[in-house]
Amino acid sequence: MMKGNTKHSCDILIIGSGIAGLAAAITAGEQGLKVILINKEALLGESNTQHAQGGIVSLGKDDSPQLLIKDIMEAGDGISNVEAVTILASEGPALVEDFLIGQAEVPFSRSESGALEYAKEAGHSTRRILHHKDMTGKAIEESLIKKAQTCKNIRIVTNYTAIDLLTIPHHSMNPLSLYREPQCIGAYVLNNRDEQVEMIFSQYTLLATGGLGKIYLHTTNPPCATGDGFAMADRAGARLINMEYIQFHPTSLFHKDADGFLISEAMRGEGARLLTKDNTPFMDHYSPRGELAPRDEVSRAIYEEMIRRGDSYVYLDIASYAEIDIKKRFPLIYEKCLSLNIDILKEAIPVVPAAHYSCGGVQVDSWGRSSLKNLYAAGEVSATGMHGANRLASTSLLEGLVWGVRAARHIATHFDGEKPYQESEIPLWQPPEKEEEVDPALIQQDWLSITSTMWNYVGIIRTVKRLERGTDDLRYLKNRIDDFYRRAHLTPMVLNLRNGIQTALIVAEAAFSNRKSRGAHYIK
Ligand code: SIN
Repeated sequence: MMKGNTKHSCDILIIGSGIAGLAAAITAGEQGLKVILINKEALLGESNTQHAQGGIVSLGKDDSPQLLIKDIMEAGDGISNVEAVTILASEGPALVEDFLIGQAEVPFSRSESGALEYAKEAGHSTRRILHHKDMTGKAIEESLIKKAQTCKNIRIVTNYTAIDLLTIPHHSMNPLSLYREPQCIGAYVLNNRDEQVEMIFSQYTLLATGGLGKIYLHTTNPPCATGDGFAMADRAGARLINMEYIQFHPTSLFHKDADGFLISEAMRGEGARLLTKDNTPFMDHYSPRGELAPRDEVSRAIYEEMIRRGDSYVYLDIASYAEIDIKKRFPLIYEKCLSLNIDILKEAIPVVPAAHYSCGGVQVDSWGRSSLKNLYAAGEVSATGMHGANRLASTSLLEGLVWGVRAARHIATHFDGEKPYQESEIPLWQPPEKEEEVDPALIQQDWLSITSTMWNYVGIIRTVKRLERGTDDLRYLKNRIDDFYRRAHLTPMVLNLRNGIQTALIVAEAAFSNRKSRGAHYIK
C-alpha cells in the first residue's frame, strides 16, 4: 500500500500538548502564524503537565526574584545556567499573572477572602507555589486547551505520533543540499488511526514532548513519557546536554495497583514526616533541612534506609503532623489512597522514590532555539540549563510556560514565509518491502529489559560497574530493536519502543561518562 502520500504544511509544527506546547501554540496563533499541534495520545490533555500535582512557582509575599534565583541555583548544585534562571525569575511571575490567570483563567486555589494561596515545597525559602488543590497540572491543562481551541490559527490533531524530524540535508534527494546548513523542516508522523505515515512541512518546529520517566521501572510519569523528543532530536543531530541528571521524586505511592502514583511534595511542605516502618523519623540524620531538603538528598536517604533495613518502602505521615484540612488540600491523593484502603486522615502512606523528571535534554538558548536550525524545544524535553544538576520543586511548569511563550515570540518575529526547500526533493515515506506484524509479547519484554536495566544500573545510586553493565546491555538491545524497527509494520507501540531504548542509552552513556557525583547524578 502506498504510504506517505498525505502532506500538510504550516508555519510552525508543535509536537506535544503540555503547558509548553499549548502556551507556544496560543502565542504563535495569536501572532497570526498557522500552527499544527500534534499529540500522540487520543486525549489532547494527556501529558506530563496533566499529572503535575504540586504547583507552579511564582513570587510569594516577602519574596523576590533574587531569593527565587538563589533557591533554584542551590538546588541545581552549582551548574545551573544563571542566564536562564534569571529569565525565569524575572519573566515567570508576570506570565503566571497575565497569561495563566488573566487570559487562560486557571482557577488557582484561593483563601475565603479571595487571595491566592501559596504553598511551600522542599528547597524553597518561602511559600511561593500556586496550586489548584493537588491537581494543578490538570487545571492548567484544561484552561489552556480551552483557550487554544478558540484560536482559529491553531489546528489541533490528536492520535498522531511523530516518527522522525524531517531535516535537510538528511532527507533531501537533492545531492547539492549537502552544502546547505542542516535544518529542520517538519516531521514524518504516523496517523495512529489508520497506521499510515504522513508528512508535515513547517518552517519552524517546536519539540514539547515532555519527559522520559517510562524508561524506568518505577516512575511518577504517565505512559506517554517514553522519551520521544530526546530520541528524535538526537537522530536529527541536535545537541543534548545534562542527560545524566534524572530526578527521582522521593514519594510515590507503594502499592501493587498504583505503581508510581505521586504523593505530592507539598505534603512535606505542610509538615508531613518520613518514617521508617517502625514509625521513626529519619530525615534529620541526613540533612539539617530534614524533610524539606532537596529532592535528591531525600530520595537517597529513603533509598539508604530501605537498603539498610531491608524494607521495600518507608512511610509518609501527614495525619499526625499537619495542621490543615487534609481532605480539602489534597483531594486527589485522599481519594486515590482511600480507593486502595489507605485512609490518609488516620494512617501513614507507604512511599518509595520513583523516576520523575529529566533535568537535561535538548540544549536550547534563551529563546528555545536548539543547535539545529529552525528546531526549537521547550518544557521537560529541553535543557535551558536552569535546572542544572537537580530541579527545584514546581519550577518545571513555569519553565514550560516561559520558554513556550519565548520560543513562539521569537519564531513570530523571524518568520518570513520562505521555504528553504522544494517539497518534491523530500521523499515519500518508504515502508519496508515486506512489513512484519508486531508481536506485543516481544515489545513488552523489551520494555521490561529497558526499565529494569535503567532502574538497577542507572538509578538513584550508580556505580561505574553498574553503568558499564547497563550501557553494554542497552547497546545490545538497541541494535536488536533498531533492526526490528526497520522491518516492522509501524504502530505507536513500535515507535515508543524505538524512542525509549534510544533515550535510555543516551542517559546511561551520559551517566557513564560523568564520574563526578552532583545533584541527581550520584555515583559511588
Ligand atoms: C509534586 O507535587 O511533588 C511534584 C512537583 C514537581 O515535581 O515540581
